[in-house]
Amino acid sequence: MAKMAASMVESGEDAFRKIFKFYKRREPPPDFRDVTDFCSGTPGDKVVPAKLHPAAVSDEEAARVGLKPVREWRAFGLQDCPGFIFISNPFLRGSQAFWIRQCLKTYPQKPNICNLDMHMSPSDTQDIWGKSAHVLSCPPGKRPEKTLLEKLRWVTLGYHYNWSTKTYSADSFTPFPADLHALSVQVTAACGFPGFRSEAAILNFYRPDSSLGIHVDESELDHTRPLLSFSFGHSAVFLLGGTRRQDPPTAMFMHSGDIMVMSGQSRLLYHAVPRILPAPPERAASLEDPSPAPPLPQGGVLEPVSDQDWAVISRYIRSSRVNVTVRQVLGPGQSLPETRVRYHHGASDGDGRKRRRSSDEETC
Ligand code: OGA
Ligand code: MN
Repeated sequence: MAKMAASMVESGEDAFRKIFKFYKRREPPPDFRDVTDFCSGTPGDKVVPAKLHPAAVSDEEAARVGLKPVREWRAFGLQDCPGFIFISNPFLRGSQAFWIRQCLKTYPQKPNICNLDMHMSPSDTQDIWGKSAHVLSCPPGKRPEKTLLEKLRWVTLGYHYNWSTKTYSADSFTPFPADLHALSVQVTAACGFPGFRSEAAILNFYRPDSSLGIHVDESELDHTRPLLSFSFGHSAVFLLGGTRRQDPPTAMFMHSGDIMVMSGQSRLLYHAVPRILPAPPERAASLEDPSPAPPLPQGGVLEPVSDQDWAVISRYIRSSRVNVTVRQVLGPGQSLPETRVRYHHGASDGDGRKRRRSSDEETC
């Protein structure tokens, strides 16, 4: 990375944008040799081990949300990026299937908000899974048009992010899913942040040609709380930069099951996803068996995924990536204003997510 960054970037330029474009390019495809792969034997010279807090989460608590015992997690940081923690797939074998099913079947349901609500009536977006599942089971060539599930680009949970005003509001809130909060609490506790409150989440659904533009997540009122990011399905090149656009970013792979925690100084760094890639064979294989082994723990939040649901999920993620970012919005004593506007219609690309994501040209 350092080599490429140095040769490509001259002082004063928007170094981040240059590297974003480099990894987004189709013809000829970029060289991915400088992309840090945390799970490989030689992840690169900037990678340092990250300290976890295994005593904060019992093995039972971890298993209840589908995670391995914390002492078995492999966690990394980056030199010059204090607070950034990368956990290389800590999920128990088979348990990712449950979380992907929640992202595709449960979380897009009302009262949560998704991009399709921007131009469709609530009754038309009522049962995205039900309207898509049987069609997705047919071979792609035989389908008349894209299913709603394939048109899904984002879902918001809890305090619903307003893409137009880039704010949250007190009067656009629906209860945050208890299972996703339980998962987030265990991960943040293991990273040394007890008492995390999951108050908002954004789910991003990526196709092979999608990207996510360069941005900082600063709409939350309390920036001292960590931001959590889960990745499922296809892999991504993730770019993590500095506090200024001139700072050249570090490129890293995010594979299915990987978790990132942006805390401390890394919480407000520029970042982006210029590229989606097929999962490497061993990661794709780790997704294959949807029945957790050992059997589902008692009192856990995980439920078995039926063969029928799995047939749809596995077909979907064969060409897609799902990313979930969970945020605590409010610090102690803070509250959001009421705006009395639930959300705005009409964005540049028709999906409400202005300027940030694209499936063709970069829009940043
Ligand atoms: C976001 C985000 C990164 C990803 O939703 O704010 O930065 O890996 N997502 O998709
Ligand atoms: Mn972000």
